[in-house]
Amino acid sequence: MFPHFIVHLKQEIPNCSTMSKSKNYGFLISIAVNILLISIGIYLYAGGGRWAEKNLQIGHLQSTPPLGWSSKAALEAEIVAAMPCSGHGRAYVDGSGCECNGCYVGDDCSILNVTCPADAHGGDCMYLEPYWIENAVDTAVLISGWHRMSYNYADGSMISSELEYYIRKLHHIVGNAVTEGRRLVFGVGSAQLLSGAVYALSSKEASIPSNVLATAPYYWLFRDQTSFFDAKNFTFKGNTSAWHSNNTNLVEFVTSPNNPDGGLKESVFHKKKVNDHVFYWPQFSPIPKAADEDIMIFSLSKLTGHAGSRFGWAIVKDDDVYDKYSTFNFVASIGVSKETQLRALKILKVIVKGGGTGRPFFEHADHLMRDRWERLTAVISKSTRFSIQERKPLHCTFFDETRPPNPPFAWLKCNREEDVDCQAVLQQQGNIRGRPGSLFDDSTSYTRLSLTSPEDQFDLLLKRIKALVDQENGYIETVKSSNGSPFYNRKGLYM
Ligand SMILES: Cc1ncc(COP(=O)(O)O)c(C=O)c1O
Repeated sequence: MFPHFIVHLKQEIPNCSTMSKSKNYGFLISIAVNILLISIGIYLYAGGGRWAEKNLQIGHLQSTPPLGWSSKAALEAEIVAAMPCSGHGRAYVDGSGCECNGCYVGDDCSILNVTCPADAHGGDCMYLEPYWIENAVDTAVLISGWHRMSYNYADGSMISSELEYYIRKLHHIVGNAVTEGRRLVFGVGSAQLLSGAVYALSSKEASIPSNVLATAPYYWLFRDQTSFFDAKNFTFKGNTSAWHSNNTNLVEFVTSPNNPDGGLKESVFHKKKVNDHVFYWPQFSPIPKAADEDIMIFSLSKLTGHAGSRFGWAIVKDDDVYDKYSTFNFVASIGVSKETQLRALKILKVIVKGGGTGRPFFEHADHLMRDRWERLTAVISKSTRFSIQERKPLHCTFFDETRPPNPPFAWLKCNREEDVDCQAVLQQQGNIRGRPGSLFDDSTSYTRLSLTSPEDQFDLLLKRIKALVDQENGYIETVKSSNGSPFYNRKGLYM
């Protein structure tokens, strides 16, 4: 395995083939030496807790054992991380080479496939990847072969008390949710917590199942998951608009900021509700006040971009609901992976520790999202054919200023009567892939476009939207691909 990476490195890093053998050797030694030095900083035996931190303080370093078993894993990780993939992809320890972003192809991701659709349909927050690369030293995790093999932590629980401490601290710093006197449930992504919440709130009598509702446009998983489980105690009934407030047997999903349109939503019925706050963070929305609801759901995937770790948490007010909720999660998955909890801890600590205020992370993420919105708005403002949601400024207690939101998605509307299927229009005339409004129980004249992709993917999306708007305005520019060939014809249509 190990020599395989060295061979791989020689193949993938430009100029490697022209290096002399001794230069290659020197390069690897220098990586190894760096690792020895850096690893002292990154390796926390106890998994990144406050206990381990204390032991890493300068006074203790002399008694730190020399790196042994961990150095091979550290070297492997550094070698893979050093693969440049032309800035349009990433190599992973569990992969077999560069994995390219969006429309980039080739062994080193250097070729832009100009016929490939601009992908704006997913929910990944890869725009944050460069931030985590910059913070590599503080976020790297090294997992021993015997790391937390048990189902439980030493205190018998299945959730890390260190991680719980940092989650509470983060909410306190950001001021987006009340956690005092509340209990936390961890889930395999917030996706698992959604169905757990419905179960916890649903009717005890199977003969009178709870009606599960959401206000359109709503996140499609509420419908698909609730219907998929086909439980006796609850059943998905669609849009709140078709229901009356005198019905008491309701469980309402309230998503704020909303997916897909980014609006700060309130409950319609104010009965039993699941408040999905996965996007209620300063980079996406002003934080007018700390949310204080019965069940509030958050997710690492939207906060930091680590969707692959599958980690979410729910803040629960009522003890009986908490008991039912925890039972659901125990039966569904016997807790959340300890590796996931360790990684989440390392990541959240970096945010919390940023000057003790969380500002470096949120300022960075806000800056990126704001910049994308400004660029998109500038293009769409020249169009009457397409429009996007209004972004109303509100006072943000975290940044202490009045500011517009930067939603993760543009909720784009095709305004021409003949453009009935907006998604098809974008796909066929602009080579843009979004998600149709119908998926969110709304009109097909809407399309959801993700704005949280890697930079190169967002650039391509913007270029394609601009070409459509230019075409609408009769201004035709031939857009050149990276290899020089035009990919719009004289009518401005995608070829
Ligand atoms: C509103 C909302 N809630 C929950 C989720 C699920 O996220 P995850 O399971 O990655 O935490 C998503 C994912 O896109 C979402 O948009």
